[in-house]
This record gives sequence, C-alpha cells and structure tokens, in this order.
Amino acid sequence: MPNAEQNSGTDQPCEIAVFVSGGGSNLQSIIDHVQQGHIHANIACVISNNPDAYGLIRAQQASIPTHIIEHKHYETREAFDRELLKTLAVYNIKLIVLAGFMRVLSPTLINEYQECILNIHPSLLPKYTGLHTHARALEANDTQHGCSVHFVTAELDEGPLVIQAAVGVKETDTVDTLAARVLKKEHIIYPLAVKWFCEKRLQIKGNKIYFDNSSLNQAIQLSPEHEAQLK
Ligand code: GRF
Repeated sequence: MPNAEQNSGTDQPCEIAVFVSGGGSNLQSIIDHVQQGHIHANIACVISNNPDAYGLIRAQQASIPTHIIEHKHYETREAFDRELLKTLAVYNIKLIVLAGFMRVLSPTLINEYQECILNIHPSLLPKYTGLHTHARALEANDTQHGCSVHFVTAELDEGPLVIQAAVGVKETDTVDTLAARVLKKEHIIYPLAVKWFCEKRLQIKGNKIYFDNSSLNQAIQLSPEHEAQLK
C-alpha cells in the first residue's frame, strides 16, 4: 500500500493516476503544470468510467495511457472498485487525483490507497456537499462561493480540507457565469495541492493534515504567494 513516506523521494517524480468522468479541465491544468515543471510528477494513467469523457482525449494528446472502466458493467460498487484496483496495480501509483470523477469510491479502494487520494469539489466545504453547488449558492443568496481540495477518507463523507479559493458572487451571476469563475480557481488550487503532495509538503495522517510539518487546523486559503508557486 502506498503512503506519503514512500513518496517520490528527492529525484523520482511522484506517480499519479487521475480519474475523470467528463471534460477534464482540471486534468488539463495538472498536465500543463507537470509539463511546465511546476509539479514533480508523472501522470502514469488516466482512468474514466465514461467512454465519452473528453478528459480521455486530453490524456491521449499528452501521451498518457488511458483506461475505460464502465461502472455499469459491474454489479456492485465494490466489484467496480476491484477492477479499478487491478488497473492501478499495473502502475506504481503514489497519488490518486479525482478530477470530476462522478462515482463514489468504496472502502475497498480507499483503504488500499489510504492517505493518497485527493478530490476537488466546487463549493466552500463544508457548505454544499453533493451536486448543483452553484445553483444552491445562488439560491441561498451567498455573497461568497468557491472550491475546495480535500483528502478522501473512508471514514468521512468529505475528508479533511487542504486548500480553498473563494470568489465573490455577483448579482448578475447565473449558474454558468459563477461556475466558470469557480472553475478558474479550481485550476489553480488543484495543481497546487498536487504539487505540495508530490513535494511531501502535504501529508495526511489519520484525519490530520500536515503542511510543511505543521498540523493544519483549517484549510489553506489561496493567496497570491501560493499562485506564484505555479509560475
Ligand atoms: C469540477 O467543477 C469539479 O470541481 C467537479 O466536477 C467538475 C469537473 O470539471 N468535481 P472538469 O471535468 O475537470 O472540467
């Protein structure tokens, strides 16, 4: 079972698997930052439960091996996850990045990759878990909305938070305009979290997150200094 301690070492890039179900713009931002040398990683494979996911094309364009594993061919969540595990076993994966992956993982998979799974969610968690987050923020007349990166753990619905970015909600916002502004922030905070994990600056032990060896009591809030780390 991989863990952060066994992670990339000083020279070896961190081996990553990215799971996608749709457009894959978050995958793209991670590919771009790996290619630009901002993230010390190798995207070993991209896995999708949806054969039509555009994320698969993005991966192929970047010469990343892809695998399609359709959940509808498996009777249970566990059987689907066992198939994912078989595919992952081919690689030496140290980090799983869920990037718009529209399936809930079972403990079968999460327990094998404990402390090594990140997810991005389009809300300022703990607000608005689940779907339709932008519509719900508008409905509630929120003045702030945003996105969060968190670790995925078997014990919690939403695992411990790593980093969040907020956007102001405008009176003229529609679901689409708000979603577009949040997505832009996603494309910054996700590569950052992946970068920090690969550099071993970010670790989770149990339900506690450590950043630069200090325990984190609340999510990091995106700042211009953080953004500069991607330039
Ligand atoms: C993002 O908004 C992400 O937060 C959510 O699904 C969307 C995926 O977008 N989980 P993309 O496929 O990365 O473009």
